[in-house]
Amino acid sequence: MIEISSTDRVFILTGAGISAESGIPTFRGAGGLWRNYRFEEVASPRAWQRDPRLVWEFYSMRRRIAAAAKPNPGHLALATLEGRLRNRLFLCTQNVDNLHEQAGSRGAIHMHGELFKSRCDACRLAPFDDTSTYEPPAEILRCECGGRIRPHICWFGEVPYRIDEIFHALDECTLFVAIGTSGVVEPAASFVAHVRARTFYVGPEEPANELAFTKCFLGNAGDVLPNLFRF
Ligand code: OAD
Repeated sequence: MIEISSTDRVFILTGAGISAESGIPTFRGAGGLWRNYRFEEVASPRAWQRDPRLVWEFYSMRRRIAAAAKPNPGHLALATLEGRLRNRLFLCTQNVDNLHEQAGSRGAIHMHGELFKSRCDACRLAPFDDTSTYEPPAEILRCECGGRIRPHICWFGEVPYRIDEIFHALDECTLFVAIGTSGVVEPAASFVAHVRARTFYVGPEEPANELAFTKCFLGNAGDVLPNLFRF
């Protein structure tokens, strides 16, 4: 159990593990995406320059899987927590699916982008809603400016989104909970070391940065989260 007082400010960081029970593959575990794909070939600016069709095939596959997924009790528990804490909860996710939103969370910050948005690779056209999938041999769509339309995703070597807001919330929080993230990808892996707060982890195995946590609750997010918080 994690006790939450009426003055606590709670920072939640989620990773691929919270969506695993919804049928979305994680990256590093058995059956993880990076076991079958090289991220340099599908998730980097260089990959986009070299073979944008291959990149779109990868993200189209992920759009299809995510479009069929439904939130699980872990996502629902966080939406309930947001309803209770309101602006005292900051939800930051590394996930690009929309399961937090489907569960009812309103303010999730997607630091690695959103799977169902696209943007231009050349101009400052705002990211727009896009559920389309690339079907070879179609051409990659072009922006009015001539640039190519790319997934609104933070690739390896790019800067995560809304990072200033995130660090401000880390400075303010009194309770930090990471869920379903292996603790190896920066900058998220270092968030726990940045905070001066009680720190907890939820997942079936200890993360790589486990020593930085006050306590780890070992179990699936969908089992642990619905009964984790006490007020
Ligand atoms: P990983 O695949 O690295 O780690 C997933 C974590 O979820 C593991 O620690 C699992 O133990 C845990 N897990 C598995 N099933 C779970 C369950 N039912 N409940 C809770 N936890 C469970 O995924 P991330 O740490 O999220 O970035 O990966 C971070 C980033 O690396 C991703 O956002 C992605 C990737 O490369 C980009 O693509 C930019």
